[in-house]
Amino acid sequence: MNDFPYAERFPVNRRLPEQGRGREEILAELRAMAEEENATWETGKCSGTMYSGDHDHYRFLNEAFGLFAHVNVLQRDMCPSATKLEGEIIAMALDLMHADRVEDATPAGLITSGGTDSILHAMLAYREHAAQARGIDGSAGRPNVVKPETAHPAFDKAARLLGLELRVVPVTDDTTVDPEAVAKEIDDQTIGIIGSACNYGYGTIDPIGDLGALALERGVPLHVDGCLGGFILPFGEELGQDIAPFDFRVPGVASISADTHKYGYAFKGTSTLLFRDKAVRNAQYFELAGWSGGKYMSPSIAGSRSGGLIAATWAAMVQYGRDGYREHARAIFSTADRMKAVVRSHPELRIIGRPTFCFSFTSDEFEIYHVADFMRERGWRFNGQQYPNAIHFAVTGPQTQPGVVEQFEADLAEAVPYAVDRHAAGAEALSGALYGGVAGGLTTEVEDFIAAVMTDMLDTQQSLPPATS
Ligand SMILES: Cc1ncc(COP(=O)(O)O)c(C=O)c1O
Repeated sequence: MNDFPYAERFPVNRRLPEQGRGREEILAELRAMAEEENATWETGKCSGTMYSGDHDHYRFLNEAFGLFAHVNVLQRDMCPSATKLEGEIIAMALDLMHADRVEDATPAGLITSGGTDSILHAMLAYREHAAQARGIDGSAGRPNVVKPETAHPAFDKAARLLGLELRVVPVTDDTTVDPEAVAKEIDDQTIGIIGSACNYGYGTIDPIGDLGALALERGVPLHVDGCLGGFILPFGEELGQDIAPFDFRVPGVASISADTHKYGYAFKGTSTLLFRDKAVRNAQYFELAGWSGGKYMSPSIAGSRSGGLIAATWAAMVQYGRDGYREHARAIFSTADRMKAVVRSHPELRIIGRPTFCFSFTSDEFEIYHVADFMRERGWRFNGQQYPNAIHFAVTGPQTQPGVVEQFEADLAEAVPYAVDRHAAGAEALSGALYGGVAGGLTTEVEDFIAAVMTDMLDTQQSLPPATS
């Protein structure tokens, strides 16, 4: 992959330009890059990431965004609209998660910048609330949280940032966690347990009912990671898909993360974090009443935030409504069912667990990355997994276009014999298991390679200032 395809075509800014450039020229440059990059997913061959994929919808969101993009919602006296819009986004998300069934507490929510951020805030709220309510303050060792191995790395990141011990429980062959295995990890310093609905890797849903019962029995909160599934699984359930309740109807579910910027079809940059009990959310509020700069407060980790994202998220939700989300879910689930049937039609391939709109498959006969290699040449972008090597596909709007499933069927029918041949020839596959894309060459020196990828994203030779001026 060429990380710098534009280096020869557009000016490279190694320093802040002395003289500004014309708006038209700038927009033309950005437009050229955007149009080329859109072409990588508009075909419908890219897993996840472009949840709506509808340019008309994006134009509408852009208009809503533009009205408030310049507004800092921290200054509420200047933008009471943000109070209305933020409150309504939270209320609508709580409604979707059946918060109306909660009788023992007052449900509440937060808007964060994305799934990772919601998970970080959930863990922060659990830590702070456990300190207040249960006296778990670190004096008896690091507070711990228990996660199934399949739960998102955001929990590992949160644990690292918040000084928590993360206890990781392996999953069973169907890729869901065994509540008894979770039970064994809980002790008096456990501040929370975790289940996914659904997990990123396999698209499978942990037994939330049993985890909720365990949570109640042991007096710990259960966080349900619905970042990926939160805005689509409820509609799948309504449509008769085999999806057990995972929301506030389940006793013991204390909080849920559900990303508006995924199947909520909002712009990147918002997620909801919902709590059964307002006191848990409030435990992570930040205030500094005695600061010389004035009394400071922020309801979450972020300081200034753009009103544009809140307006666009609200606009997406009220534009679709339940009806619109249901119809999108119908198309996505039926496309996923057809794609899974295509995979199952090949005896050499094996779908892992009982997945939903997002599914993962492997092969017991050959290295599955050979299939990814072949499909990549045909423009498909899978996500690679490991232990075992597998490839996954999260079905989104672009796959529901006519002809995409047929193309998948035709390409996979050629990819399988290719993989059989490559395997017989003892060839190595090029693809690897890198989150967010099938990467080449991830075989040795894994940590160095991963660090180099991240470094490339930030301080490439393009963006570093020149050694001499
Ligand atoms: C199940 C799950 N949880 C959390 C996240 C993290 O979300 P984000 O990338 O928005 O931070 C993802 C991202 O795909 C996910 O699939």
